[in-house]
Amino acid sequence: MDPIGILGTGALAAHVVAGLRRAGLMADIIVSPRGAEVAAALAEAHGVIVARSNQNVVDRARMVLVCLPASAGVEIMSGLTFSEGHSVCSAMAGVGPDTLAPLIAPAALCQTMMPGAANAIGAGPCLLYPAAEDWQALLTNLGPVLTLETQAEYDTAAVFGALSGASFLLMQHLAEWFERRGIAPEVARSLVAATLAGNAAVLKDAPQDWADIIASIATPGGVTEQLVSELTRTGGLTAWDDGLDAVHARMTKG
Ligand SMILES: NC(=O)c1ccc[n+]([C@@H]2O[C@H](COP(=O)([O-])OP(=O)(O)OC[C@H]3O[C@@H](n4cnc5c(N)ncnc54)[C@H](OP(=O)(O)O)[C@@H]3O)[C@@H](O)[C@H]2O)c1
Repeated sequence: MDPIGILGTGALAAHVVAGLRRAGLMADIIVSPRGAEVAAALAEAHGVIVARSNQNVVDRARMVLVCLPASAGVEIMSGLTFSEGHSVCSAMAGVGPDTLAPLIAPAALCQTMMPGAANAIGAGPCLLYPAAEDWQALLTNLGPVLTLETQAEYDTAAVFGALSGASFLLMQHLAEWFERRGIAPEVARSLVAATLAGNAAVLKDAPQDWADIIASIATPGGVTEQLVSELTRTGGLTAWDDGLDAVHARMTKG
């Protein structure tokens, strides 16, 4: 397989490299030299090649995944030269194709959003827009690839990146509730993780609609109904809408 280039050798790059190698991908992976500690660790653990410069990554790989900080990404990308054969996939949240496509012309551009840590174990979804066969084939190594139909759909779906990160804090918050009441930390953590993982597995394959699933698990007048009613009364559920709206507004501004 063609070499894969990665610009931005930080947390996301480390997850992606781990996921690709875990899936058995043997292609050369060429990473940019900034983030030297991560690059050295990836060279040691996964045999990645550390390029001399960002341009050297681009010169050595047809497919280039952009994992740069969004704040600096535009400036960095505007200093690089791409050719027609290049296929660039940007994982930078909040840097849209109107900004990025002219900087990498005449190369092809697509965008991806992924949770990161879950992709390292082949279990995280990757959004993709627009459809691109080469990236679809590569990202499949990291978990299910969900291709969107329009830029607007992608922008909305990409908010899941924040939901994914926040879900860890939600799980921590819930585990700590059990801990404060005397449950051992490792039991509390397993309890929360296994509850959500089990229910997610049910949801993923359930043929029924939401109402049927909820009717099957919530006894009328029971404790689920009590908790949901308390969360509804205090805005605990609708607060998520406000948070997701704010992230969506930030990611689509300009
Ligand atoms: N973390 C995730 O799971 C995740 C998930 C989805 C999307 N993303 C997106 O992926 C991007 C990277 O996130 P991250 O969490 O991986 O950030 P990160 O850990 O800070 O990594 C960014 C890397 O880019 C490097 N860098 C900075 N300036 C550079 C330059 N001029 N040339 C080359 N490399 C440069 C940094 O090097 P230094 O350390 O030397 O500054 C760092 O190694 C962001 O746009 C984020 O929105 C991340």
